[in-house]
Amino acid sequence: MKGVILAGGKATRLRPLTWVTNKHLLPVYHKPMIFYALESMQRAGIQEVLITSSVEHLPQFINLLKSGRDFQLKLSYAIQEDAGGIPQAIALGEDFSGQEKILVILGDNIFTHNLSSAVTDFERQAKGAKVFAKHMPTDSKQYGVIELDKHHKVVSIEEKPEHPKSDLAQTGIYMYDARVYDFIRRLKPSARGELEVTDLNNSYLKEGTMTCEVMEGWWIDAGTSYDELLRANNLVAELVKTGNE
Ligand code: DAU
Repeated sequence: MKGVILAGGKATRLRPLTWVTNKHLLPVYHKPMIFYALESMQRAGIQEVLITSSVEHLPQFINLLKSGRDFQLKLSYAIQEDAGGIPQAIALGEDFSGQEKILVILGDNIFTHNLSSAVTDFERQAKGAKVFAKHMPTDSKQYGVIELDKHHKVVSIEEKPEHPKSDLAQTGIYMYDARVYDFIRRLKPSARGELEVTDLNNSYLKEGTMTCEVMEGWWIDAGTSYDELLRANNLVAELVKTGNE
């Protein structure tokens, strides 16, 4: 399986921090934000990772991360010309991943869950996709929301619904088979003019090939607000100070 880390987008919710600086280069305690996604890839056993970002910011990632040797990863880079949505950025991985499955991590997601057993399981799954969910009892409606039945099967996924059907947030971690690029080609832009990852995931759900794993430990989408960014800093600080990093 190959890895794709998304580090583009406009990051409007973190302005003015992100007027000039790419969100994924902001500090989270002692490291730039993107380091956490790279370390998650490495812990999951992924060896080759594609990083996507804008033409303006991609050179900074190359400068910082270079070949990936320091992370024991082989890195490639791709330019996303306009921030046209998460699936548009994933689509840049088509030549890179070929017939292999992919693990996608949104570069603003920071989490402690180890993905290695999910990687092994998904390698064995004949086809389909996997999403990762996290219980967010107080604020699930600011994320994609996943509804599961009592057998743990995915029933629905809705993007930032007004009335969430569960407290399970769809995190920014996704696994797809090599047909993902065909599914992306069939997507239409949403009302806000972007391709939506929730529409992509619903293509697999309709097909009946979507699985879901509920994550352990903590998970933060550090791009949602200054408070979530601060919470990420504090949780990482605690890990470092207790020797659990
Ligand atoms: O983090 C989890 C959430 O991520 C999910 O719950 C939502 O279902 C999913 O739509 C997404 O929501 P966000 O509102 O957080 O998406 P955002 O636009 O902030 O972008 C998420 C990441 O993807 C961020 O690291 C930037 C990157 N990105 C985004 C866009 C729109 C790109 O690289 N290119 C893009 O064009």
